[in-house]
Amino acid sequence: MPSTAFEPARAAQIARDFDLRDLNADFYQDPFRYYRALREHEPVKRLPDGSYFLTRYRDIQAVYRDAATFRSDKTVEFKPKYGDAPLYQHHTTSLVFNDPPRHTRVRKILSGALTVRAIAAMEPGLVQLVESLLSGLDARAERGETVDLIAHYAAAIPLEIIGNLLGVPHAERAPLRDWSLAILGALEPSLSPAQLALGNQAVTDFLSYLRDLVARRRAQPGDPDTDILTRLILAEPGTAGETEPLSEAELLHNCIFILNAGHETTTNLIGNALVALSDWPDQKARLRADPALAASAIEECLRFDSSNQLGNRMAVVDTEIGGVAIAAGNSITLCIGAANRDPEQFPDPDRLDLGRDPNRHLAFGLGIHQCAGMTLARLEGRIALTHFLRRFPDYVLTGAPQRGQRARFRGFVGIPCGVRGR
Ligand code: HEM
Repeated sequence: MPSTAFEPARAAQIARDFDLRDLNADFYQDPFRYYRALREHEPVKRLPDGSYFLTRYRDIQAVYRDAATFRSDKTVEFKPKYGDAPLYQHHTTSLVFNDPPRHTRVRKILSGALTVRAIAAMEPGLVQLVESLLSGLDARAERGETVDLIAHYAAAIPLEIIGNLLGVPHAERAPLRDWSLAILGALEPSLSPAQLALGNQAVTDFLSYLRDLVARRRAQPGDPDTDILTRLILAEPGTAGETEPLSEAELLHNCIFILNAGHETTTNLIGNALVALSDWPDQKARLRADPALAASAIEECLRFDSSNQLGNRMAVVDTEIGGVAIAAGNSITLCIGAANRDPEQFPDPDRLDLGRDPNRHLAFGLGIHQCAGMTLARLEGRIALTHFLRRFPDYVLTGAPQRGQRARFRGFVGIPCGVRGR
C-alpha cells in the first residue's frame, strides 16, 4: 500500500520517541512514514540504548564506503545478546560479521564459488522449477484450493535453488527453511527467550547436519565447476600465497550463512514484488506490455520494499556522521529501507516506477560487504516475476497479505491469491 506521511507535529514527536527495540504495532505495516519522520527531524537519531539510527541515503552510503572507521565485526556487540551460545559462534564466524583480513580471505574464496558463470548455468533449471511451481498453482486453483504466494511459490524457489547450490539432497531439505528462519529471527533488535532458544537449537542442528554433508562430499567430491560445496572444501591458497583455505568452522558457519542469506531475503523479494505490482496496477500493466523492463522492475522492487531493511556497523574511532559527533565504540543501524526512500536520491520515492533510472538503491548494501549473492537473487527475482505474470496476468489478492512482524527482514508470511483473476 502507498505510504502516508504523519502530519508535521506528530512526525516530530514520532522522531523524538522512536525506539527500535519498542516499535509501535503499526510500524510493520508502513515503516516508511516512520523513516520519513526520522529523516526529516532526526536523521542521525540517538536511540535510548545509546546507539545511532541513520535514515539519510548520503549518510548511509558514507558509512558503507568507510570500512576502516565503521566495522562489521560483532565479537564485542553480540556477547551480551548471545553469551557463548551457538548463535554467537555462528554469527561471529560468518563472513558478513567479520572485518579484513579474515573477511577479505573468506570473501575471495566464497565469491570464487558464486561466479557469474556458475549462476548463469543455473538459469535453465530455475526456469523449469518456476514453470512446475506455476503448474502446481494452476492445479490448486483448478481444485478450488487456496493459493498462497509465499508457501506455494516465493519460498519454494530459493529453497530449491540454494539447496542445489550446496548440493543438499532433496530428501534432506525439509528442515532448512525453519533453521534459517530461526537463526535470522534471532538477529531482530528485540528477542524473547523462546526465540533465542530456537535460534541456538537451529545452529546446533544445522552444524551437525552440515558436518555430515561435508564428510560425505569429502569422501565423494563433486565437480568443482558446478558444485559450490566441493569448491569451498577444496579452496586452495591463492597464487600469491595469501589465501589460507577455510578452517572447518569457517566452512560450516559460512555454509549456514549462505543457506540463510539466500532464503528469506529472496522469498521476500518475490513476495514483496508480487504484492507491490498488485497495489500498482498501472505498473503491472506496464511490465506486461514491455517484458524487457523486467531487470529494471526487479531493481525498483528491491528499492521500494527492500527485503533486508537494516544493516549494522560499529564506529572504531571517534568520528562524525552528518555533522553529529560519534564516539568510538558506538553501534550504528543503517536503515536501508529509509535510504531507499530518500527524496534527495530518488525523486518521488514513495511511487513505484518500474523504469526508474538511475536507481542506485542500497538493497544489497555497498562497499566491501556488498551482497555476494546479488547476481543469483536478481536472476531468481526476474525469472519468478516474469514467468508468473506471463502465466497469471490477471492474478488478484483474495485477502489482505499478512506481514511478518520483523523490522530487519521485511516480507509477508502469507499472500492469499486468486491466480486466475476473480
Ligand atoms: C533479495 C535478496 C537479497 C538481499 C536483499 C540481500 C541483501 C544483502 C545485504 C544488504 C548484504 C550486506 C550486509 C552488510 O553489509 O552488512 C548482503 C550480504 C551478503 N549476501 Fe545477500 N542478499 C540477498 C540474497 C543473497 C543470496 C541469494 C545469497 C547467496 C547465494 C547472498 C549471500 C550474501 C553474502 C555471502 C553476503 C556477505 C558478503 C560480505 O560480507 O562480504 N545474498 N546481502
